Amino acid sequence: MSKKIVVVQGSPRKKGNTRDMATVAVASARESGAKVMEIDAVDLKFKEPGCLGCQKCQESDKYQCVLNDEVAQQVATLPEYDTIVLSTPIYWWSYPAQLKIFIDRMYSLSKLADPENYSSALAGKILGLLATGGGGLEDNLDLLERQWKNPADMLGTRFISCLFPNVSSEPGFLLKDPSAVEKAKGFGRVLALS
Ligand SMILES: Cc1cc2nc3c(=O)[nH]c(=O)nc-3n(C[C@H](O)[C@H](O)[C@H](O)COP(=O)(O)O)c2cc1C
Repeated sequence: MSKKIVVVQGSPRKKGNTRDMATVAVASARESGAKVMEIDAVDLKFKEPGCLGCQKCQESDKYQCVLNDEVAQQVATLPEYDTIVLSTPIYWWSYPAQLKIFIDRMYSLSKLADPENYSSALAGKILGLLATGGGGLEDNLDLLERQWKNPADMLGTRFISCLFPNVSSEPGFLLKDPSAVEKAKGFGRVLALS
């Protein structure tokens, strides 16, 4: 059966290198038989910029943020997929704020009251990361990777990443690099077949 993948786009630059590589990876995953949807986290409207920590999602039996805005509605669709991929540049050794709003709302997808015995609507999924950065891997992109691998480790699920270090901010920079394009294609194939 074909894999259902969702790519959450977190780059504020619509014509930036991150989205270019994500586009290549998505096309490659589709060629390999996967069904791929995209959520543009940057465009979603929200009532509050992130999670309020109200814990109402933890008291409910649903996996849904009670703020019920566009961010909450899109986050609630994630359990429909086999694989959830973040596509993001690194900003200040972390996620861009626009994507962090989305990620913090993902708190609503797990019941964490008892850390020894939690449940999650993301159990059994694969978490993926496609990320670009102006700097290197060490003490930089590896920090961002850790931030998405930690939830995968907690959930006991697989984690796959594709990192592009030393990327110029010039639009089209990575598309001109055949090895980067090949790397993104390979990532798409791995996503489809994992
Ligand atoms: C606000 C801001 C913060 C950034 N912080 C980092 C950083 O911490 N480490 C890094 O390697 N690059 C950093 N960069 C560079 C971007 O990660 C890099 O240019 C990335 O490839 C941009 O992706 P895009 O083309 O999709 O916009 C930063 C860029 C901006 C605009």
